[in-house]
Amino acid sequence: MNFAGKVVLVTGASSGIGRQASIDFAKAGAQTVIIVSRSEERLAKLAAEISEQHCQIVQHVCDVSSKEQVSAMGKSVLDRFGRVDVLVNNAGFAVFGPVKDQSIEQIESVMATNYLGMVYCTKAFLDSMIARRSGHIVNVASLAASFGVAGLAGYSASKYAMLGFSEALHHELRGTGVGVTVVSPIAVKTDFFNNESFGSRNPNYTYYSLDPRNVSKAILRAANSPRLEIVVPFYMRAAVWFKHTLPFVVQPISGTLFRSRLG
Ligand SMILES: NC(=O)c1ccc[n+]([C@@H]2O[C@H](COP(=O)([O-])OP(=O)(O)OC[C@H]3O[C@@H](n4cnc5c(N)ncnc54)[C@H](OP(=O)(O)O)[C@@H]3O)[C@@H](O)[C@H]2O)c1
Repeated sequence: MNFAGKVVLVTGASSGIGRQASIDFAKAGAQTVIIVSRSEERLAKLAAEISEQHCQIVQHVCDVSSKEQVSAMGKSVLDRFGRVDVLVNNAGFAVFGPVKDQSIEQIESVMATNYLGMVYCTKAFLDSMIARRSGHIVNVASLAASFGVAGLAGYSASKYAMLGFSEALHHELRGTGVGVTVVSPIAVKTDFFNNESFGSRNPNYTYYSLDPRNVSKAILRAANSPRLEIVVPFYMRAAVWFKHTLPFVVQPISGTLFRSRLG
């Protein structure tokens, strides 16, 4: 895949999937990769690493759950570059635990970053993409956008919301030259599970966990894809199909599986 001359913006670039995708867009020839997260230090480390590629790296410290910060970041990027060709909405996190033990603030904070952060960033660049009749938005959701996971109710809700928003936007954008594609991975080996709420239930290194490079590859593919959703690995698409087609068979199985992790 070749991204020569493209301006790419990745949120949640300081770690895990977003970090790998930023490196891979640079290696694939992107003219500029704009890396966004809250940690200036980790962004600087990544920028130094990518600087070996012939690619301009621009760091933006921004909390995507803040409408004001995203609006300022979007304005600054458009003033400087005039466009974003590929927007990867990847920033996200989860708080693990049953709903009865979670505070309303915890559930709100997950929605504010994972769902509203994606909405704010999309709104910051969508008009300019439509005006140029060119651009692609890649939203990193999860298989939890298709399965309500016990212990991850707030997280599942944020990813269902992301998928629903993206599906509607996908229909709206038909014929505009602008695309939107969701990438939905199963568990990935990143810092995601280091959130203290996971405690000893950290499934970081289960046999089925993916390497971030596999998800990054899907993100680069998604940036050129007419599809609404790419599930990673591809065969988990069958699980999503079974869940929607035979929910009364699949839900008791997935419910038992996920509940067992609640301890
Ligand atoms: N790992 C998995 O098993 C898995 C599976 C399916 C989907 N996903 C999704 O993949 C995406 C990336 O997760 P990951 O696995 O790579 O986790 P990660 O290694 O923990 O990375 C999360 C990234 O999001 C950034 N971030 C978090 N809150 C932010 C905020 N409010 N504003 C800006 N940046 C923020 C973090 O940077 P700062 O802390 O520097 O801000 C970090 O760069 C998430 O959307 C996650 O839901 C992960």
